[in-house]
Amino acid sequence: MVKGAGGLDRILAMEIVRVTERAAIAAARFRGRGDEKAADEAAASAMRMELDKLPIKGTVVIGEGEQDETPTLYIGETLGKGGGPDVDIALDSLEGTTVCAKNLPNALSVIAVAAKGSLLFAPNVYMQKIAIGPGFAAGTVDIDASPRENIENLAKAKGVPVGEITACILDRPRHARLIEAVREAGAAIRLIGDGDVAGVIHATEPGETGVDIYLGSGGASEGVLAAAALRCIGGQMQGRLILDTPDKKARAAKMGITDFDKVYSAEDMAKGDVIFAATGVTDGNLLAGVRFGRDVITTDTIVLRSSSRTVREIRARHRDLERL
Ligand code: FBP
Repeated sequence: MVKGAGGLDRILAMEIVRVTERAAIAAARFRGRGDEKAADEAAASAMRMELDKLPIKGTVVIGEGEQDETPTLYIGETLGKGGGPDVDIALDSLEGTTVCAKNLPNALSVIAVAAKGSLLFAPNVYMQKIAIGPGFAAGTVDIDASPRENIENLAKAKGVPVGEITACILDRPRHARLIEAVREAGAAIRLIGDGDVAGVIHATEPGETGVDIYLGSGGASEGVLAAAALRCIGGQMQGRLILDTPDKKARAAKMGITDFDKVYSAEDMAKGDVIFAATGVTDGNLLAGVRFGRDVITTDTIVLRSSSRTVREIRARHRDLERL
């Protein structure tokens, strides 16, 4: 993006850390309080405040909802103080509102930034997803293949028996048949309550997370965010919007989508140079959550850049507590 404009993606990669840190701290104050809405609103307004300090002209392509659903960070909203590049922003100020409200693992504040026109402008619908980590030939798995075929092909590519493959799937009634098919194929399943951005990212590091493949449907927004992360860390992903009603098709068409059955690769969802940041809200496999001390608040963030494939892990100790 931005890279051509004097390496600004390098500067932004550090700047956007503040955005997810601030949102994560705001959300974490509501951890375990059973109030999803309050946690979400606090994260969104903190994120918006920080985004408006950035020297960018940003358009929200993935946000808190469509314009009639949310007062802030809606799809199409423009953000930033200007004076810099035109960029697309995909964000979820609190990915995992329910897990935050229950203080369960893997709630994150997440953002991805890329040059204008690079991130998929997607409506607030479900997306069917499949993802694996780096190092496999293209086509090792396919969104249109059966769960058994995908599991067997992945096991063969890894050189392990099918019984050593673990699939990560959101624990939802709509996945009952998928779960059954994966178990029948002989693989194990890690069922997650929420948070499929983390779920997809986990599939990129099987050695550390024990997850080899992500399968199932979740939010389209989370799909684009996960694709942005994958573009930076490597791995394969396919997604297809689930546009199963005339209303959803009309909303997609309004965003410029003409092929309602299109299978999107990670590259289709997040093109060119992408930066991605996530800060832990609650503790998870990927990141520790926010820690509130007497005089200090500690946050853990990962920042990824596709152009260099750098993975930065940033632990910040915030002492200006009155501002946070
Ligand atoms: P929210 O933060 O918006 O609650 O999303 C959490 C999440 O688990 C996402 O990670 C996932 O994509 C989506 O919900 C799945 O939707 P649903 O809960 O409707 O199955």
